[in-house]
Amino acid sequence: MLHPLRHPLAAHLVASLRDQATPPAEFRGLAHRLGLLLAMESTRDLPTQAATVATPLEDAAALRLAQPLVVVPILRAGLGLVQPFLDLFPDVSVGYIGLERDHTTAVAHSYYCKLPPLAGRTVVLVDPMLATGGSAAQALTLLKSHGATSLRMVCVVSAPEGVATLHAAHPEVPVFTAAHDRCLNDRKYILPGLGDFGDRLYGT
Ligand code: PRP
Ligand code: URA
Repeated sequence: MLHPLRHPLAAHLVASLRDQATPPAEFRGLAHRLGLLLAMESTRDLPTQAATVATPLEDAAALRLAQPLVVVPILRAGLGLVQPFLDLFPDVSVGYIGLERDHTTAVAHSYYCKLPPLAGRTVVLVDPMLATGGSAAQALTLLKSHGATSLRMVCVVSAPEGVATLHAAHPEVPVFTAAHDRCLNDRKYILPGLGDFGDRLYGT
C-alpha cells in the first residue's frame, strides 16, 4: 500500500527541501511544486464517468471526473500541500484537522476539526511528515467516524515506523510518499528527513 513517487523532478525537489540552507520562502515554493506531483500521482485512479462533448467539428466521447474530491490537511504543516490540490481540482472541498505532537512524548493531541460531508467522496488526507504515524492514524480514524469510506494519505517524507503503524490501523488506505526514509531518531524525528516541516514552511 506504499506508493513512492518515482520521478526525477520529485527527487530533485526533495533534495532541496532536505537542504538545511533552504529558506522558508523557497521551501514553500518547493513544497508547492512537489505537492502538484503528489496530487497527480495520488489521484491516478479517481473514478470517471462517460460523457459526450461537442467539439467545433463533431461530438466526441469523453470522460469526466465522477465525484467531487475532498482534501484534508493536518494542521499546520499539511496546509503546505492544499494549494496544489486546489490548483489541479478547483472544485475540491477542504476539511481541516488540527493535531499537534507533544514535544516530549511525540503523541499527537487533537485541537480542531472542521469537515465537509465525506460519504461517497474520495478523501485525501495530506500531511508532509509520516513519522510515528500517530497523527495520521488518529486523523484517519476521525475521517472514518465522519463517514469517509474511500481514503488515501499523501506525505512528503515517510518513516518505516509510521507506515507500519498506519498499515496496522488502516490497512486499506494507500500511502503516497515522495521519500521513504531510514528510521526515526530518539525524539521521533525522521532520519535523514528534513527537520520540522511546519517550522521550515512558516519560519518559526
Ligand atoms: C508534524 C507533522 C505531522 C506529525 C507527524 O506535526 O506535520 O503532523 O508531526 O508525526 P507523527 O507521525 O509522529 O504523528 P507537528 O505535531 O510538529 O505540528 P505542526 O504541523 O503544527 O508543526
Ligand atoms: N514532524 C516533522 O515535521 N518532522 C519529523 O521529522 C517528524 C515529525
